[in-house]
Amino acid sequence: MSRKPLLAANWKMAQSSWAEAKAFLDEFGRLDKKIFDSVDAVICPSFFHLGAIPSPLSPFSLGAQDIHWEKKGAYTGCVSADELADRGVRWAILGHSERRRYFQESSDILQKKLLLAWGAGLVPIFCVGETREERESGKTFEILKSQIEDLKVLQDKAVPEKVFVVAYEPVWAIGTGLVATSDQAQEAHGFIRDELARHFGQALSQAVRLLYGGSVTPENFDAIAVQPDVDGGLVGGASLKAASFIRLLEILKKAKTPSVVSR
Ligand code: PGA
Repeated sequence: MSRKPLLAANWKMAQSSWAEAKAFLDEFGRLDKKIFDSVDAVICPSFFHLGAIPSPLSPFSLGAQDIHWEKKGAYTGCVSADELADRGVRWAILGHSERRRYFQESSDILQKKLLLAWGAGLVPIFCVGETREERESGKTFEILKSQIEDLKVLQDKAVPEKVFVVAYEPVWAIGTGLVATSDQAQEAHGFIRDELARHFGQALSQAVRLLYGGSVTPENFDAIAVQPDVDGGLVGGASLKAASFIRLLEILKKAKTPSVVSR
């Protein structure tokens, strides 16, 4: 099955003005739209900027960096999946390691979020990944396996035609300038796809797009993007400037274009 490559920008809270977001959007808007026949692009701004970007959205779609775990209610400062879907948001990053770490997001919370996002029609970009200590003590696959288990709440809901996305983001590579080698990335992605096949069956696991995240830049992305189980990237720092994000889109497109073999 062919999976359309996907590049997602995670802007985190890294911008301090609307002018920065606007500069990105203006430059991105001038990009030749033909590229979107071959790659999908998703931008995940802060909630504040998310609300300021007009809908309908073209040429990229919008994602949230998080959602609340309850449908609605008295939760000061929070945003619900339904509110986001109502504004034309189509994706939600869930389980990012910064949310797991700084906001103590547990498996229970993440399962609730997965169900709520799905129910609201948002496609989850579910993040998994090991810390440096976990990798060094040989626990990488154990950790990935247990994090993937949370996706089982979608077992009777996801079908190959409508499926979630998984981002492999080794925690030691996020924002550190350290990047997984192409072998490490392929090994983890292959493992994740096998786990998905175990829980959801072959057809669905072949339809899920797996993104690599962690210090992706135009300088290091080629080697990772060509790996067979890497279908794109989830990019933080290098997604803030349109020129660098566009370069990553071009690299991804090239990496996933079958080469013409001359006979
Ligand atoms: P980074 O962030 O590209 O800045 O390492 C990636 C992420 O946290 O999604």
